[in-house]
Amino acid sequence: TDKPNAIIVIFGATGDLSKRKLFPSIYRLYKNGKIGEEFAVVGLARRPWTNDVFRENVRNSIEQSSSKEEDLEDFSSHFYYHSFDVTDTSSYDDLNNLLEDLEGHYQTDGNRIFYLAMAPEYFGSIANQLEENGLKNGKGWTRLVIEKPFGHDLDSAKELNNQIRHAFDEDQIYRIDHYLGKEMVQNIEVIRFANGIFEHLWNNRFISNIQITSSEKLGVEERARYYDHSGATRDMVQNHMLQMVALLAMEPPIKLTPEEIRSEKVKVLRALRLVDPEKVNEFFVRGQYGSSNSIKGYREEATDLANSTTETFVAGKVMIDNYRWAGVPFYIRTGKKMKEKSTKIVVEFNDIPMNLYYKNETEKHPNLLIINIQPNEGITLYLNAKKAGIGSIAEPIKLSYTNNGVDDINTPEAYEKLLYDCIIGDTTNFTHWDEVAHSWEFVDSLLDAWAAVTPDFPNYPAGSMGPEAANDLLEKDGFHWWPITD
Ligand code: BG6
Repeated sequence: TDKPNAIIVIFGATGDLSKRKLFPSIYRLYKNGKIGEEFAVVGLARRPWTNDVFRENVRNSIEQSSSKEEDLEDFSSHFYYHSFDVTDTSSYDDLNNLLEDLEGHYQTDGNRIFYLAMAPEYFGSIANQLEENGLKNGKGWTRLVIEKPFGHDLDSAKELNNQIRHAFDEDQIYRIDHYLGKEMVQNIEVIRFANGIFEHLWNNRFISNIQITSSEKLGVEERARYYDHSGATRDMVQNHMLQMVALLAMEPPIKLTPEEIRSEKVKVLRALRLVDPEKVNEFFVRGQYGSSNSIKGYREEATDLANSTTETFVAGKVMIDNYRWAGVPFYIRTGKKMKEKSTKIVVEFNDIPMNLYYKNETEKHPNLLIINIQPNEGITLYLNAKKAGIGSIAEPIKLSYTNNGVDDINTPEAYEKLLYDCIIGDTTNFTHWDEVAHSWEFVDSLLDAWAAVTPDFPNYPAGSMGPEAANDLLEKDGFHWWPITD
C-alpha cells in the first residue's frame, strides 16, 4: 500500500493518555485516510482484559458523534490487548510472538512503534528488554516513543537517556512534547520565516520583550502524586515553555530539516542565562494556589499535600545571552488554577524614537504581535491608526486572523500530528536529547536556587493570575503582562 503502516504497541493502554489522546488520534488518522487498513494496535497493561473489553474501551474513548457504529467496529477490530508485566522477561517473548502473528495478518512490513505511555520509572528497563528479547529485530523499522517526564533533573535524565540509548539509536527515539504538535506552535516558524515584515525586526533593536503565558484553570486532579514531585517548573517550563522560547528565538535554519531546525533550537537553549542564586528573586517568582471562595487550595486537595511546598505557578524573566537577544526579556508564566485556560505569546515592539502622537508614556500603545495558541488559534496584530474624525489622534487597531471554524474537522489535534510524524519518520517535532539536556540544565539552576529557601505558600488565590510578585517582575522593567483574553 502507499499508506504508511505499522504495528503500534502501547505500554500503558488502560491509562488516561491512551484513552484521552492516543485512541482518538489513531481514529482520526484512520478516518482521514492517513493510515490504511494495514495497521494494528497492541495495548499492554497489567489488567487482565480481553480483546473485547479493550475494544469496547477504545470505542468509548471516541466521542465523535459523527462516527457510525460500524466504522467504530471496523476500527476497533485492529486493536489487540495483551496483559503484560513490564518487569517479567517472559512477557516480552509472548509479546514478540503476538507481534509476529499480527504481522502475518496485517501488511505492516514489520514496522513497529513502541509507545511508552506509562510511569517513567520503567522507560529504561522496557527499552532494554525490548532490545534483549529481540523485539527490535522486526523486518522493518522500529521506533520508540517516550512520553514525559524525561527525568527529574539533568542527572536522572542523563541516566535515563543512557539506558535508552543503550538499546535504541537517537534517530529511533521520539521524545514527545505535545506542544510541538499544536498548530500555532508549529506556526511560529512560518510566521517568523515567511514574513519579511517580522523577521527583519525580530531582534533586540526592535523588540522590547516577549511574553509567553500558559495558564490553566484546572488543578492537579488525580495527578497529585506525580505533580507534587514535579511542580510547575518541571511539568511545564522544562519542556513546553522552553520549547516555545527556542522557536521564538532561534536563528533561521538553513533548511527545513529536523537536524537543521534542532541545531538552531539547541543554540538558543545553550544561550539561556542560568539562574544566579543570589538573583533568583529578581528573575523568578514561584507560587502555590490557596483556597478562594469555594475553590480548594492546593494543600487541601489531598492529605499528602497538606504541607506541600511544590510550586503550582512559575513566572520568570528568561534572558538569552546571544547577539540577537541580549537585553530582551522573555517573560514566561504558567500555573494551575488560574483565571483562564489560555496559551498565548505576545511580542512587544519598541516605539519609534520620537512619537508625536502621545503626550505621555501611559498613552502609548506599542505594536504587538500576538500568537494565540489556545483555546482560539490565531494571530493578532496591534497597530496604531488615526482615530476617524477631526483632529489627529492615534488609536490602536486590531487585525485578527483566526483558525477556528475555518476547517475545524480537519485541523488535527497535536497527538494526531505527532503520531503521524512518527509513522512517517519525521522527527522535526520531537525533542532531541541535546534539547532535553540543555533545558534541564537551566531548570536545575532555577530549582537549586529555590531549594535554598522555604517558600511562603500559598501565595495566590485560586482563580487569579498568580502572585502579585509576577506583576512586579515586569513592572520594574517598565512593562506589564498583556491580557490573556481579548
Ligand atoms: C502537560 C502537563 O504536559 O501539559 C499538564 O503535564 C498540563 O500538567 C498539560 O495540564 C497542558 O497541556 P495543554 O495541551 O492542555 O495546554
